[in-house]
Formats: sequence, C-alpha cells, structure tokens
Amino acid sequence: MDKKVIGIIGGGQLGRMLTEPAIKLGFDVVVLDPTPNCPAAQVGAQQIEGSWKDAAKIAELIERSDFVTIEIEHIDVGALEQFKDKPINPSPDTIKLIQDKYNQKVFLKDNQLRTADFSEITSEDKALEVFEKFGGSMILKSKTDAYDGRGNEVVKSKEDLEKALNKFSGFGLYAERLVDFQCELAVMVAKDFRGNIKSFPVVETVHRRNICEEVYAPARISEEIEVQATSLAERLVAKLDGAGIFGVELFLDRNGEVLINEIAPRVHNSGHYTMDGCETSQFEQHIRAISGMKLADTTLTTPTAMVNILGEREGPVELQGVNEAKQIPGVSVYLYGKTPTKIDRKMGHINATAGTIEEAMNNAKEARRLISI
Ligand SMILES: Nc1ncnc2c1ncn2[C@@H]1O[C@H](COP(=O)(O)OP(=O)(O)OP(=O)(O)O)[C@@H](O)[C@H]1O
Ligand SMILES: [Mg+2]
Repeated sequence: MDKKVIGIIGGGQLGRMLTEPAIKLGFDVVVLDPTPNCPAAQVGAQQIEGSWKDAAKIAELIERSDFVTIEIEHIDVGALEQFKDKPINPSPDTIKLIQDKYNQKVFLKDNQLRTADFSEITSEDKALEVFEKFGGSMILKSKTDAYDGRGNEVVKSKEDLEKALNKFSGFGLYAERLVDFQCELAVMVAKDFRGNIKSFPVVETVHRRNICEEVYAPARISEEIEVQATSLAERLVAKLDGAGIFGVELFLDRNGEVLINEIAPRVHNSGHYTMDGCETSQFEQHIRAISGMKLADTTLTTPTAMVNILGEREGPVELQGVNEAKQIPGVSVYLYGKTPTKIDRKMGHINATAGTIEEAMNNAKEARRLISI
C-alpha cells in the first residue's frame, strides 16, 4: 500500500518539527514554503516552492496530500474552500475566524469565554474615545497579519496614540484594555476527528518585546488556576471546527482570574517543551489528530524549561557553543536550519529537564548564554 501523504502549508520550524514525527508514524510529507530548502525540507519533507497566499500552489499541495494542515494561519484560506472532500484541519472556517484577531475577540465574547475588553477602531475620534474609556492606556492591535507582536502597540498617552495610528495607517485596527497580569499562561489543546479533547499541562510563558522567550512547565500556579485555565481553553476548542492542536494563550490577572489572550490554530512555541517534557510531543499529537488517529498520552514526565534561541544580529549564521551547551545535564538544543540570522528571528530553542522547574530554567538559560548564532 502506498504511504499516505500529509500536506503542510508552511515549512518553517513548526513544519520541520511536524515532519519528523509524521515520518516516524509512516507518512510522507509535502510542504508549501517560499524559501528554497526550507527547514522542513531539510528533515525529509518534499517541498513545493511558493507562497502561502498562492491559490494555485495551495491547490497543488492539497491534490498531492491525503491529509492537509497548516503551520501558519496567514494563508489564502479561500484556496482551501473548493476541497470539500479533503480532510483539512483545522477547518478553513476556523482558520478564517482566527486570521482576524478582532473577529476572534467577538467570537470569544459571543461564547462567554472570558477575554480582555476590546473595541473596534474605525477612526481617530473613535480611538480617542476608546482610549479615554479604557482609562488612558490600551494596546492597539492590527486585525490581520500580526505575529510576534509586529501588529501591536501599547498606548499610554495621546502622543503614543497618534504615533501608533500613523504607524498602522491603512490597517484594520482594534484596541484592547491592558491586562495587569500576574503571569501569562498557555495550554496546548488537541482535538481528534470525533471531537475528543485532550490537553497538555498548563505552562507559564514569559514574553519580551512581544516574543515568547521562556516557558516553564509546569506553570508555578495553584491547582485551582490550572483547572480554571484548562477548562476555559477546552471550552473554547470544543467550539472551534476541526481537529489538531490549538495553542491557547492566556493571562492570569491580579484577581486570580484567567482570561484568553488569543488562539493559534496550530502547534505553538509555548508547546515546544513537550518534545522532552511529555509522554507525547505536541507535534506527534497534531499529526495523530489531523490524520484520524487516536490522541496519545500528554502527561508531563519531568519539569521542563524552554528558552528560545533568537537571532542577535544580522548576517550569515556562525554557530558557536552548541557542544558546550549540550554538556549541561538534561539540555537539548534544537536548531531550525534557518539562514541568515536576524535580530529576534526564531533560530532554535533549548529544552532543559531537571528535578525542579527552577533548576531546569537555570540550566536552559546557562545553555542559551553559551550559544551564539
Ligand atoms: N490586552 C493586553 N494586556 C496586556 N498585555 C498584552 C495584551 N495583549 C497582548 N499583550 C502582550 O503582548 C504579547 C503579544 O500579544 P499578542 O499575543 O496579541 O501578539 P502576537 O503578535 O499575536 O504575538 P505572538 O505571535 O507572539 O503570539 C502578549 O503575549 C502579552 O505579553
Ligand atoms: Mg500571542
């Protein structure tokens, strides 16, 4: 019997880490990505070179695949809609909903899923009115094509507001009330073809310059908060069409309430710790979910810390210190095969396991200090 083919829109680091378990599970993998010899192609995926917004290339990918999924949501979703008979997961409707962060917020509110107050910004006057209503501070967000904070501006004065409106001129915008959070949390939730749901443990995430930099698994929270966060994330995922992993980003506010920040309809940076910390990785779980297999065990087997390896300069990759970093007990280093290096580009990540989460994080940070890329 011929091998079944998994098609992934996007072949960056997430596509790469999905390809590895897909091949182990006996699938062939084909990815659509614009960069020649993209990260996924380097580990055995076939590649169609092209843009995620090119409808003809997307159609070619789907025709070659038995199961289709995404590593990025900023795609031409209309190109998926003619393929009603192919298992495309998550569903095109879900991808479309999530592509627009404002629609996402409306969806959360309509479904009584707790989230920060928000308001659409349709004019300068409206922006000023909302700014006053939110008490003189807010975060302005682009509705679409936002990632790693590139579509966000914190506004704390009228001057900030004017600058932010200029910066985003021409973009659809909305604003959110600033959440004074104790910490940020995330849960990776998997859903299979039958609607069965299984979550990974709740983790704590630390963002700098709007980019997720550190993950603590488990999160340093009470069991009550863990239950609150998991049940909120699962209620949300139950309402979204389609199978796969959904990365749910959350805030824990000063009153001990959990709020949803946003949803990623795919594997997520805050789930990379599962590669070393859990019985099953988020990547294997996603492949299982989108190909009609049963979901596997998500138990956390050991405290695990994750630190991203972000580029610190512009230029060709000059890798140093990886062997030294790997000498630290429990440390694993994952490099994505990207070139060139750029400031804040996600070049790789480090997972560290240890007896306690504090020790794991110390070791992960020590490993990060040893590496330059
Ligand atoms: N309403 C808010 N109140 C306080 N902080 C916020 C709010 N919204 C976003 N942030 C901060 O900015 C970070 C990035 O915001 P958001 O998740 O909207 O951006 P993004 O561009 O989608 O980022 P990513 O791709 O990293 O998920 C959040 O993780 C949080 O630290
Ligand atoms: Mg986010």
